[in-house]
Amino acid sequence: MAKLKVGIIGTGGIAHAHLNSYNAVGKDEVEVVAGCDIVPGKAEEFFKRNNMPDAKGFDSKEEMLKNVKLDAVSVCTYNATHSECAVFALENGLHVLLEKPMSVTLEQSLAMLKAEKESGLILTVGFHPRYDVNWQKIRQIIDSGVLGKIYYVQTGGGRRSGMPGGNFINKKTGGAGCLVDIGCYSLDFAMHSIGYPKPLTVSASSFDHLGKKHFGDAFEVDDFSAAFVRLEGGITLDFRMSWKMHMDTAGDFIFLGTEAGLKVKQPSLGTWGGAWDGPVGEVRLMQDILGKPVETLIPLDENHGSGLFEKKIRAFIDAVKNNKPAPIPTSEIIYNQGILDGIIRSASAGKEVDVVF
Ligand SMILES: NC(=O)c1ccc[n+]([C@@H]2O[C@H](COP(=O)([O-])OP(=O)(O)OC[C@H]3O[C@@H](n4cnc5c(N)ncnc54)[C@H](O)[C@@H]3O)[C@@H](O)[C@H]2O)c1
Repeated sequence: MAKLKVGIIGTGGIAHAHLNSYNAVGKDEVEVVAGCDIVPGKAEEFFKRNNMPDAKGFDSKEEMLKNVKLDAVSVCTYNATHSECAVFALENGLHVLLEKPMSVTLEQSLAMLKAEKESGLILTVGFHPRYDVNWQKIRQIIDSGVLGKIYYVQTGGGRRSGMPGGNFINKKTGGAGCLVDIGCYSLDFAMHSIGYPKPLTVSASSFDHLGKKHFGDAFEVDDFSAAFVRLEGGITLDFRMSWKMHMDTAGDFIFLGTEAGLKVKQPSLGTWGGAWDGPVGEVRLMQDILGKPVETLIPLDENHGSGLFEKKIRAFIDAVKNNKPAPIPTSEIIYNQGILDGIIRSASAGKEVDVVF
């Protein structure tokens, strides 16, 4: 394939990062030739503002596909419309790079998996922290077996104060709150690090006290969620995430194993920090050697955070052009979605629920 022709579905905030990264790769490899948004005129305006007179803006994905020949799309819409847009693109022969979270409900993700399988095309979910070399080091440490058998993982983190507003706090568009918006990053970090064991049961609580205090009845989702998740292989995952809380952090990321433990800290918490979508601050390995507790500070790469978004875009382009598998496969992300869906159901029912795929 000489040059990849890409469209963007949903030309809001994050669409700019997609556009800039495609443009950075360069027109010999890839070109954003069209975009669409349900807000009339928004896609056209998006290309005007970005000085791209040749790219065409449309008011619906159907109109875009009728008028422009594409190879692939970036889906950058609200969480609640990810599934509808990704399924539509796959059914119309396009590879898909999807924004996080994959979806809100498990049913939506399963519909995407079906469309992906039937089309034989690539569907990948854009978790850019996966391209951080320090993230990769954590996976390497765990893979080395130095921790022994891992039996407990705590996700920690959470924002001191960072509620996004807009479509994110509306149930119809955001689907759920901090749980899906930034909780999906910590779940991907946890599950990827330990090799994606299957989730079995979830017991969760979600709260909206601080969101309601700030936004009133317009706030329809969770500002804090906590869950106790049983994973296959005798592993417990203790999940916490917040958009706002009267605390600097709900804890560090910790992995407990029979031979050693690993503590991962964020570089700074701050108001909008704590989401596990940014760089790693400190990694400490804790063991007993000759009966005495020993701590090892793991050396980190200085240049970890640069260009992660572009690396994600490049990996997608490479997979499409060279018939490679999806860089971040749905076979993994579906387990995150099983947990997120389980948290929503358990918090609503007030009791433990099974996760069934
Ligand atoms: N990867 C990241 O770092 C990152 C950062 C921010 C947001 N996000 C994700 O990106 C997505 C969009 O977030 P945003 O901040 O850009 O929101 P946004 O509201 O700025 O943009 C979303 C756009 O999608 C449009 N849209 C909704 N449904 C559509 C449909 N069916 N067809 C066409 N257009 C549609 C909306 O009109 C809006 O313009 C969310 O899923 C969010 O979680 C990712």
